[in-house]
Amino acid sequence: MSIINYLDSIKARDPAAKSRLEVLLLYPGVHALGLHRFSHWLWRMGLRFLPRFISQTGRFLTGIEIHPGAKIGKYFFMDHGMGIVIGETAEIGDNVTMYHGVTLGGTTYNPKRVAKRHPTIESNVTIGAGAQILGGIIVGRGAKIGANAVVVKDVSPGASVVGIPAKPVKATMETDIAAFLSAGGRKEDLPPDLVVQLESERADKRPDADRSKKRSAK
Ligand SMILES: CC(C)(COP(=O)(O)OP(=O)(O)OC[C@H]1O[C@@H](n2cnc3c(N)ncnc32)[C@H](O)[C@@H]1OP(=O)(O)O)[C@@H](O)C(=O)NCCC(=O)NCCS
Repeated sequence: MSIINYLDSIKARDPAAKSRLEVLLLYPGVHALGLHRFSHWLWRMGLRFLPRFISQTGRFLTGIEIHPGAKIGKYFFMDHGMGIVIGETAEIGDNVTMYHGVTLGGTTYNPKRVAKRHPTIESNVTIGAGAQILGGIIVGRGAKIGANAVVVKDVSPGASVVGIPAKPVKATMETDIAAFLSAGGRKEDLPPDLVVQLESERADKRPDADRSKKRSAK
């Protein structure tokens, strides 16, 4: 990955970006990532204080805090950047786009020091402004996380999730499941929480649903 390709990948994702020079000089996400590449290299060499110092300097300059231990793939774009926090054991794939105010964090104080406390974000994921993604969960390839969503469970590849706690956007979920089944996928292979949610929504939509609910309430 050359720096030119990286700057072009940002231009392609941000209609406001007018030139490579502008992206290079004026985008805090680019500066924070550059400092992270250096601090991560030092971290992998076994140093601890210096990489943390560089990471905190990056935070002071850009408002973006990336722990030196976090593993980040190619073409990572933090748009606006301010308020982003990325934890020590977070892993980020290629071509991930993230807006300001996102946290890839742990769920709680963890006295047992579980090894993987922060999320794994697979390639081509987009994470909306203010989204909080918490715990050692996996956000599947190509998923979209809505602005201000709080995600505490795995997200299926390609799904769009919104809200607190985050749930799949209905239209996307139904379309995705229909496509999966018609391509020969088995219902047993779908994430169980998706199936339960879909079936309960279908049950609610049945014309007799209101009547049977009223009957059972009596
Ligand atoms: C989640 C998101 C990717 C969904 O996009 P989409 O797949 O095109 O979905 P739609 O816009 O058709 O919305 C689908 C439903 O989700 C709701 N929805 C969309 N985004 C939402 C959000 N962030 N929180 C809660 N509900 C949301 C819509 O109101 C709609 O509800 P309805 O079906 O009851 O009408 C997008 O809305 C989003 O939040 N993107 C982040 C953008 C961002 O952070 N921009 C910052 C720029 S500085």
